[in-house]
Amino acid sequence: MTMKADILIVDDVPANLELMSSLLAKEGYNIRPALNGKIALTAARNSPPDLVLLDIDMPDLDGYQVCEQLKADEATAGIPIIFVSAMGETIDKIQAFSVGGVDYITKPFQLEEMVARIETHLTIAQQRRELEDQYRELAILREHEKQYFSEMNHMKDQFIATVSHDLKNPINIIMGYVDLLLEGGTITEPDDLEFVRTIGRRAESMFSLVKDLLDLARLEAGMALLSQDVSLTEFLQSCYEDHQLSAWQKEIRLAFSPPQSDVIVKIDPKRMGQVMNNLISNAIKYSPESTEVQIMGQVQNHAVFIQVQDHGRGIPEESLPHLFEKFYRVPDEGETEIEGTGLGLAIVKSILDQQCAQIEVQSELGVGTTFTIILPHSN
Ligand SMILES: Nc1ncnc2c1ncn2[C@@H]1O[C@H](COP(=O)(O)OP(=O)(O)OP(=O)(O)O)[C@@H](O)[C@H]1O
Ligand SMILES: [Mg+2]
Repeated sequence: MTMKADILIVDDVPANLELMSSLLAKEGYNIRPALNGKIALTAARNSPPDLVLLDIDMPDLDGYQVCEQLKADEATAGIPIIFVSAMGETIDKIQAFSVGGVDYITKPFQLEEMVARIETHLTIAQQRRELEDQYRELAILREHEKQYFSEMNHMKDQFIATVSHDLKNPINIIMGYVDLLLEGGTITEPDDLEFVRTIGRRAESMFSLVKDLLDLARLEAGMALLSQDVSLTEFLQSCYEDHQLSAWQKEIRLAFSPPQSDVIVKIDPKRMGQVMNNLISNAIKYSPESTEVQIMGQVQNHAVFIQVQDHGRGIPEESLPHLFEKFYRVPDEGETEIEGTGLGLAIVKSILDQQCAQIEVQSELGVGTTFTIILPHSN
């Protein structure tokens, strides 16, 4: 039982009021009697009770009117009201509920039944209050979260701007001077030349790291893609041509098998080009000389498959779930560490997510790796 719940009992017949009050006081409730509607309203407004037992037939203000007024006032609107009808009096149940009553008791009543009903409505009211409190807390939390995210977004924008100006530019300048020194012919000592070339190479990898970080930051900040209708064959052909030189330099045969019949795909060609660039350069980078890397396009039912397949070192199974995480690199067990930042595939995933495309990877150690992009197509 909810001990010490505050119950306002309203009845214009003093004998009834007394009887109900004493019975319920014995049950452990805090009883506040009111002999008419007006007193009841004042009492409820001054100090809202937990529940009201309300007689219907009363002079001046009847029970329905009292109920209506309590419901109209925000301070008392949440109090559960149970109507009590006198002996022989018929209760208009529809009106009782439509003015906001939660229940009714007809006399003669059984004490246990009345207590059970009171308890039920006290519990419901309590639960409703708790829910309202939780809802309010949630709304406050949400507001804080919104503010936090908008501040973070602002910081991210500032970060992007700062990085682009304050980091990319000086690296560019370093690379410019390295070129000048190398072309100027003033450095002739082989060792010195190698030092300058090393500076150049390091500056270049720094530049590409900054570029990758910027790309990711922009993608995560929700940079919009510029999707357009593109011929799948033409798109893959240009990706293939872009990598012929780097494949040739590593003595890798780059092959291209276009889709049997061309389709139009809705993609952002620049961003998808970046995806393909990452996949193809990985395939070349992680394959030994004299192997083949293949770019394939296929159309099946309503999906377009783009595959980049290599016969390189493969990826261990335990690494597969982490492949698209930022900065993840498969631990290198070979003698020579292949350079990279581990951002390439994170960028790939981020772009494909925005493009509503999927990517799958199949790999076997020492046998090779196939990345498959699945794109919806527009015709
Ligand atoms: N075709 C592949 N064959 C074998 N391992 C691969 C292949 N593609 C990716 N990997 C592994 O997945 C890791 C993550 O690739 P990812 O492209 O994200 O980074 P990265 O190539 O190391 O650096 P970068 O940011 O310069 O691309 C690589 O370090 C490599 O270990
Ligand atoms: Mg890579």
